[in-house]
Amino acid sequence: MNTLLSAQQLEQGVDDLAACIRRDYASRPLTVVGILTGSIVLLADLIRRIDLPLRVGLVQASSYRGGATRPGELRINDDLLPDVSGRDVLLVDDIFDTGHTMVALVEQVKRHGAASVRTAVLLRKQGRQEVDYTPDYIAFDIPDEFVVGYGLDYRDLYRNLPYLAALEADELDQSTPREQGV
Ligand code: IMP
Ligand code: MG
Repeated sequence: MNTLLSAQQLEQGVDDLAACIRRDYASRPLTVVGILTGSIVLLADLIRRIDLPLRVGLVQASSYRGGATRPGELRINDDLLPDVSGRDVLLVDDIFDTGHTMVALVEQVKRHGAASVRTAVLLRKQGRQEVDYTPDYIAFDIPDEFVVGYGLDYRDLYRNLPYLAALEADELDQSTPREQGV
């Protein structure tokens, strides 16, 4: 495992993200919606830096991934989503990879009647996007490697690492497809 971003670099990135969000929303009330499970660490750090009237909600996205690293069929559970009708919503996720998760969730939140929907991600993986959409707030662009830590998992492990690390090819087992939260 190689460290890609230290805890200190992550902290700086989240500071910058929060500053942009505070500036753009000025004193407007905001509903921040974290995408389970990968966003939990970012969500906790980000909301404490945003000094606005703020609600927090969650949605769950999971995809059936071949060997856990390739994207598959997406399922969304919005039972935990608060009432967003007429509200300004900021969707938060750990990483923008192919982009399908974020695009599907933007549409879902719009269907629930949000007044506006913007998106914030900690990471964007270079050269992987399959959608015509760019998140509004991006802390870091990273190379096309499988990364873990700061909320991101490999087979549900490593979310608790305080830094971001890239897994080596021989640490990734591509064999058994399974369902996992993203
Ligand atoms: P997308 O729909 O392809 O953009 O996938 C986004 C989801 O896939 C994220 O919410 C992550 O949970 C997961 N994902 C994508 N790349 C990585 C990675 O490098 N490490 C861990 N999870 C990843
Ligand atoms: Mg994941």
